[in-house]
This record gives sequence, C-alpha cells and structure tokens, in this order.
Amino acid sequence: ALIAVGAVLAAYLMGSVSFAVVVSRLFGLSDPRTYGSKNPGATNVLRSGNKAAAALTLLGDGFKGWLAVWLALFFQDKYQLGSGTIAAIILAVFLGHLWPVFFKFVGGKGVATALGILLAVNPWLGLGTLATWLAVAYAFRYSSLAALIGSLFAPFYYALLFGADLNLLAIAIMSGLLIYRHGQNIANLMSGKESRIGSKKK
Ligand code: G3P
Repeated sequence: ALIAVGAVLAAYLMGSVSFAVVVSRLFGLSDPRTYGSKNPGATNVLRSGNKAAAALTLLGDGFKGWLAVWLALFFQDKYQLGSGTIAAIILAVFLGHLWPVFFKFVGGKGVATALGILLAVNPWLGLGTLATWLAVAYAFRYSSLAALIGSLFAPFYYALLFGADLNLLAIAIMSGLLIYRHGQNIANLMSGKESRIGSKKK
C-alpha cells in the first residue's frame, strides 16, 4: 500500500513539471502565463512564434504523462499494483499538470499530457485519439476544438478496446476535467473569437 501511495504521489509530482514554463525559460521567451490565452501549454507557446519551443513543450508534457503510466504498467506485477492504483496514477499525473504544486497550482489544460497517458495505456488508444485530434485540427484549425472532440472520443475508444473498468473511469474523468479547463475556449469558439492554430499572441 505504501508503494502504491508513493507511486501516485510521484505521478502527481511528474505531472506538476510544466514544460511550457520550463522550456520558455530555457529559450529566453516570455512566460506563457502572461500572453495569448495565458495557458501554460504547447498551443500557447506556439503563439510566441517559436515552433521549436512549442514542439518541445508538447513532447515534454506528453512524455511525462506517458512515462508515469508506462512505469506503473511496467512495475505493476513486480510491486503488485492493483487496477485501482493504475487508474489513480493516470489521474494523478494529469491532475499534476492541471494543478502543479511547483507552479502555485496554475497549470495547463491537459491535452498533451492526456495524449501521452493514452499512448501508454494502449498505443492504439493513443493513436486513435491523436488521429481524431489531427483530423479536427486540420479541418478547422482550432487546437482547442480538436482537443475537445478528441477527449469526447477517447473514452469510447477505450471502451471499444477494453470494455468498462477503472481505467475507463479514470479516462472519462480526465476527459471531463479537460473539457472543464477549456471553458474559455468553448466560449471563444461559440462567439467566433477563438484564435486559430499558429496565429500570433495578442
Ligand atoms: O493545449 C490546450 C489547447 O487545447 C488550447 O490552448 O492556449 O488556445 O487555450 P489555448
């Protein structure tokens, strides 16, 4: 039980590393929490005009989600982690990104991290959700809309692959939180004010 609690805590700490802030500092860019949507995420870092920094943010935030869940699954047998612990780790790394202990609990919206998590749970689940994101992003040029549609589909993809279990519950909660964090984006989309992918910071 101690190992399970430690693993969940470690996942939360991993999620708390905000790559948008870290990468922007390394590149000497403005803090992404001060411009554009003010969101510490890859989409907003792209508004700085620095594509490499945006790509690194996407990779970093995705990788931490992937790594936390991959480690949990890799050591599941050795440390006898139950299915509840795996589901808790999925949520913990995601919650760390949304409410990071290292950044006064001001985190991102969770798109890259959710994708990394889904890829670690199952590559087909991750790739299917990524394909959904790409199709909507390509068609409409809104990063947020692509994430919203992707997050609606992800639990269904999981259910199709594995049926109902605790991971499905974790993924559904993750999607719900992701949508909740996109409240401003939803308002902007409905009023036609949402900025399209690649348009610069305001
Ligand atoms: O990465 C989150 C994305 O879906 C929206 O980001 O900066 O446009 O609010 P942003």
